[in-house]
Amino acid sequence: MITIHAASADLADLDVDVVAVGVFKGGIEGPGTAQVLAALGLDDFPITPGFRGDVGQTLRLAAPGQPFGSVLLVGLGRMDGVSPASLRRAAGDVARAVPKARRIATTLAEVHPTRAAIEAVADGLALGSHVAQRFRSAPEEVGEREATLLLPSSPLGDAEEAIRRSRTTCAAVAFARDLVNTPPGQARPAEIAEAVTDHLPAEVRVTVHDEAWLAEHGCGGLLGVGRGSAAPPRLVERTYEPENPLAHVVLVGKGITFDTGGLNLKPGTSMMTMKCDMGGAAAVAGALAAIGELGCRAKVTGLLALAENAIGGDAQRPSDVLTTFDGTTVEVVNTDAEGRLVMADALGYGRSLGADVLVDVATLTGAAVVALGPWTAALMANDDGLARDVADAAADAGEDVWRLPLPVELDAWLESPVADIDNLGRDKGAGALLAGLFLQRFVGDVPWAHLDIAGPAFLGAQDVRGHQPEGGTGFGVTTLVSFLQRQSG
Ligand code: BES
Ligand code: MN
Ligand code: ZN
Repeated sequence: MITIHAASADLADLDVDVVAVGVFKGGIEGPGTAQVLAALGLDDFPITPGFRGDVGQTLRLAAPGQPFGSVLLVGLGRMDGVSPASLRRAAGDVARAVPKARRIATTLAEVHPTRAAIEAVADGLALGSHVAQRFRSAPEEVGEREATLLLPSSPLGDAEEAIRRSRTTCAAVAFARDLVNTPPGQARPAEIAEAVTDHLPAEVRVTVHDEAWLAEHGCGGLLGVGRGSAAPPRLVERTYEPENPLAHVVLVGKGITFDTGGLNLKPGTSMMTMKCDMGGAAAVAGALAAIGELGCRAKVTGLLALAENAIGGDAQRPSDVLTTFDGTTVEVVNTDAEGRLVMADALGYGRSLGADVLVDVATLTGAAVVALGPWTAALMANDDGLARDVADAAADAGEDVWRLPLPVELDAWLESPVADIDNLGRDKGAGALLAGLFLQRFVGDVPWAHLDIAGPAFLGAQDVRGHQPEGGTGFGVTTLVSFLQRQSG
């Protein structure tokens, strides 16, 4: 864990292991950078030809005879591109570049000493320091880490408040990451339901709907997908309700605890990362946990659609037909397109709760990864204003999203010869859009936004960047929290 505080100390008085200072692209020095370099007897920049202040670059320099143990230069990218988001990334790079440092001080928050930027730097340090090693027999001692955000001057009251907010959201992100990283045999639907029930601020109510409830309420999607597994599906409902709420926002998360593909079995290499297929549910759970503490003006319901897509003697078959919560019949053309089946039930149920806004988060399609790569989530929506709000919230939160269209002509591709709709669609490309169009069938005219997080929910070692680590990233938590906190009427 990390403790962060703000201080307006002099660099020369710092007793720390490393002081991290920023450098903009082209070698332009950030706050305090010239001073620490001068203390090291360096005034010519660049120090090494390779370090140019690019985003993602770090360079550690020894600091013999100085009170601070060493200096870490971190690239900030173009000076005119500085934002809370770029500082969050840089602070994450700092935290990961010095994994053994116990005491860190940084001037990064001085680059842009607004509340949002201070919170972003605190986020980056905390999220970049989070390590997943619960499942090692002999975990490395990580110990307590302490970070000081250097700021120009008092009052630091606002900074302390920003740091407190950051602590709450980062704990929620860490919770979501841990859920994703848990081995899938130990995180089946009932186990995840239990984990999110235990981890609950007092302000949030929770109900776990079991398979009997699902049958009674006609949740054929969750039941159909769950049939192949010995561990039955669950629908978790969490509610945060302030006094006189302005609106009712329903968040829906895809919670496939493991996606084998079902009878349309995935090849081994594609299956390997499929414990991440509940990343949407983890993000919704994390967002509710944070909102319970931070508060917001809307009533918020979080729905976690939990099922394991396994194979077994009772598994659903390609060409089976199921009926979802709202009565729509779906031909299961491909059992590996299971996410949209469980989401159909949860979206329909969310609508029946009287949602004014629906936002869903799902590791829905490999096609979204083909289109946008590992870091960027696909955003689709039936409402331009809502799409803009979600995109703005994501930009604040330092998560990359990019909007994709929902062309009305493609809707016909979902037609089935035997049921209302089929779950695959004419397989002619546009896979992410077809999945979005499928979900759109279940939201009626409620303003709805869909985030396909198949890429950024889970990163390979080669794709680690900034505050986003290897494995489960907790992607979506901070976007949802910032979206909910923007709800003002
Ligand atoms: N869970 C996968 C999507 C996915 C892929 C998530 C890669 C994270 C990384 C989803 O259930 C799936 O299997 N989708 C299929 C859909 C297809 C059968 C229409 C896919 O993308 O191949
Ligand atoms: Mn699948
Ligand atoms: Zn899936």
